Amino acid sequence: MPSSHPALARAETFCRAYNIRVPILQAPMAGACPPSLAIAVANVGGLGGCGALLMEPAAIKQWAAEMRAGSNGGFQFNLWIPDPPPKRDAAHEAAVRAFLGQWGPAVAPEAGDVSMPDFAAQCDALLEAGPAIVSSIMGVYPPDFVARMKARGVKWFATVSSVAEAREAETAGADAIVAQGMEAGGHRGAFDAKKAESQQVGLFALLPAVVDAVRVPVIATGGIGDARGIAAALLLGASAVQIGTGFLRCPEARLAPAWADAIGRTLPEQTVVTRAFSGRPGRSIANEYARAATSPEAPAPAPYPVQRGLTAAMRVAAGKAGDIDKMQAWAGQAAAFAQAKPAGDIVRELWDGARALLS
Ligand SMILES: Cc1cc2nc3c(=O)[nH]c(=O)nc-3n(C[C@H](O)[C@H](O)[C@H](O)COP(=O)(O)O)c2cc1C
Repeated sequence: MPSSHPALARAETFCRAYNIRVPILQAPMAGACPPSLAIAVANVGGLGGCGALLMEPAAIKQWAAEMRAGSNGGFQFNLWIPDPPPKRDAAHEAAVRAFLGQWGPAVAPEAGDVSMPDFAAQCDALLEAGPAIVSSIMGVYPPDFVARMKARGVKWFATVSSVAEAREAETAGADAIVAQGMEAGGHRGAFDAKKAESQQVGLFALLPAVVDAVRVPVIATGGIGDARGIAAALLLGASAVQIGTGFLRCPEARLAPAWADAIGRTLPEQTVVTRAFSGRPGRSIANEYARAATSPEAPAPAPYPVQRGLTAAMRVAAGKAGDIDKMQAWAGQAAAFAQAKPAGDIVRELWDGARALLS
């Protein structure tokens, strides 16, 4: 039965269109979205998500198979649109390696030679895996891939961080826009990496402006962690919300315990947007390494994905040691709302709470 509140009615229309029961999407989070998390969210009517950035085609197919074995609910696959190849600077990389050597094991000269999975092969694998929804971040898909998605009836959700990007994505054929506020944990989705730091817009200003600028449904993401945030996003015009950090303490996320625990005690002002981990700006807990690497004395991080390679040894060692001060601990500004309980309970409680606020 249709709800009386227009914000709820809009969310119900979105749910019907995408065959879900709850307008809560588990954010695709590269490296932090095992099928177990997506299954738990999808089984209570939300949408599961897989950030496939680091996955080879075989891993993409395996993820889809595990998802389908655990749930007949909905899910999205997500890819980053690649940036142009980075400009290398051996002298500068040597300075970054020396700096990183103070934070972890000595960094080998070839550590910056990172090879990422082939984007075209990942795109093929996504279509073969047959999801109903594919999403993007850091840009728009090339027209030929958009045409292939449309031919198969696959819907495209495009992540944006500005009104101009929202317009560009709609023109390129996006079926829905994911408006990412600067509060968001993980990498910022700006199409132009340079603007990811210089042009940071909060969700409260971004969301209604994007809703006014496009005709397709808008999904709100970034800093949403409780029922009030969901209700507010729906009132500002969103058709659904996407939550990342809020699911990272769930047992199904299988996060390193030191990272999960730290999320639970991180206040909004205790995160930072930094290039220090990967070379692309992302929001992490402002731990000792992030603070030191962003101080004026530290060498500027190398470009993406070179910096990802240079920091790998430190990140791996910190992960093994459970040392939160050197870990790549992505987290959004609403981190402290994240609860250490099953994802299905969180989805149910958040949606019950948001509905109560809007009724
Ligand atoms: C650990 C982590 C990894 C992420 N990886 C991706 C990714 O691969 N693709 C993507 O579109 N967004 C990625 N994001 C961003 C999320 O999709 C989403 O925008 C963000 O989590 C929302 O903010 P919140 O964390 O405050 O809920 C990631 C976020 C986190 C926390």
